[in-house]
Amino acid sequence: MKRFCIFFVVFIVVASINGCDGRIKLPQLITPQDDVVEPPPGDFETPFEMLSSDLSATFARGEEAFMKVFTIEEGLGPIFNQAGCVSCHPGNGRGMPDLSLIRFSMGHNLMLDMGGPQFQDKAVPGVPYETLPMGVDKSTRLPPPVFGMGLIENIPVETILSYADEDDADGDGISGRPHWVTAPDFVPTTEIGGGPGEQLGRFGRKTSVSSLVQQTATAFQQDMGITNSFLQEEPSDAGDTVPDPEVERSTVMDIVVFMRLLSPPPRGEITERVKRGDKIFNRIGCASCHVPTMRTGPSPIDALNAVDAHVYSDFLLHDMGEELADNRPDGNATGTEWRTPPLWGTRLVAEFLGGTPFFLHDGRATTLEGAIRAHGGEAQKAKEAFFNLSEVQQQAVIAFLESL
Ligand code: HEC
Ligand code: HEC
Repeated sequence: MKRFCIFFVVFIVVASINGCDGRIKLPQLITPQDDVVEPPPGDFETPFEMLSSDLSATFARGEEAFMKVFTIEEGLGPIFNQAGCVSCHPGNGRGMPDLSLIRFSMGHNLMLDMGGPQFQDKAVPGVPYETLPMGVDKSTRLPPPVFGMGLIENIPVETILSYADEDDADGDGISGRPHWVTAPDFVPTTEIGGGPGEQLGRFGRKTSVSSLVQQTATAFQQDMGITNSFLQEEPSDAGDTVPDPEVERSTVMDIVVFMRLLSPPPRGEITERVKRGDKIFNRIGCASCHVPTMRTGPSPIDALNAVDAHVYSDFLLHDMGEELADNRPDGNATGTEWRTPPLWGTRLVAEFLGGTPFFLHDGRATTLEGAIRAHGGEAQKAKEAFFNLSEVQQQAVIAFLESL
């Protein structure tokens, strides 16, 4: 009887430490100032509400194609990085450092004849592996998340340009600039970012891509070795025996619609501490680049039509200083410039990556403080202001970031 009781007590203690689902739960001390609350649930997999049945059906097809892991028989390779979109963007979120891509080139030479500008580190049997040529400029890119793409796409060009200050006319040390790019001919002119002339780059860590169609068609061809109606050539001369195109135009377009309709997750709990952090975030200049809200333009899709998108980005290039520099120019972006990444979904990053979050273009930071500490260049002043805050104020900013 005594033994049973002890076992019973031990069981209760273990159960309450671990929770009943086996996840470690730390005891929560709730004080009036330090309001610790369970974060509301959220994910990166939910489409916007109230979609038409047509759009819901396209979303479902696109989701299936995004989740698909390709086999050699289906056209994977001859050289590739990963076998599916989902492999690098797990749960539609960001990837981990070992899923990063390496881009290389020499000055403005993309080195196409030497396997550039992307290093495919895998090959199907019988095909030689690519090697990185010596002495080239390299850039390691952590896969960013793919939700909220429809909102990013639908922010009017003028709105983004209104935040640019290329010559720092207002003298605040921050001079974000747009990345003008040329869309490849295969992007339909009806697509945002498609058509002749200069287009505003919005996608990729240096905003070198103006349209989701280009991003998707190129990912198939370059990252997976899957030819498609837009890009019919294999990434290497070795070729494979599967007839091209290996996926149809409709599959690429379904995935584009899928990403367009993936909603950002809802905000976490907005506590008093989070509100204080929000104010400080604005006051010390973080919001000069991480612009909290931009309004989208007109769209036939209600969820994207003239809505406030809480992006925490200006989608401009900023000189972030030596520490973050990859020293590899990319289009018109220099080796020190990066796009301000949106901060939505920050609260779920760790959970989605199995416990450890990875931040910045190459995933080098595993804490938010670490990500802020790496800021330099145009963000030097804001960074210093952050580290000059009291510990309590810094923690409020972190709590705010963890509510996004
Ligand atoms: C090998 C890993 C890998 C695979 C496979 C991959 N991606 Fe990516 N994806 C990346 C990386 C890395 C970037 C950032 C690229 C850059 O900055 O140049 C990216 C960027 C993106 C972006 C831009 C997001 C943003 O915020 O700018 C979209 C959209 C995207 N990928 C969609 C896809 C789709 C669709 C597929 C499948 C057809 C796919 N990706 C396959 C690694 C991958
Ligand atoms: C001059 C513009 C600028 C300012 C000011 C700025 N940031 Fe950033 N921030 C960036 C850029 C650009 C990156 C991406 C750098 C990279 O990937 O190497 C970034 C990255 C981040 C990240 C990592 C996001 C991710 O998902 O990887 C966090 C968190 C962040 N900033 C928070 C802050 C905070 C907090 C402040 C204020 C103390 C701040 N930033 C000020 C431009 C800025």
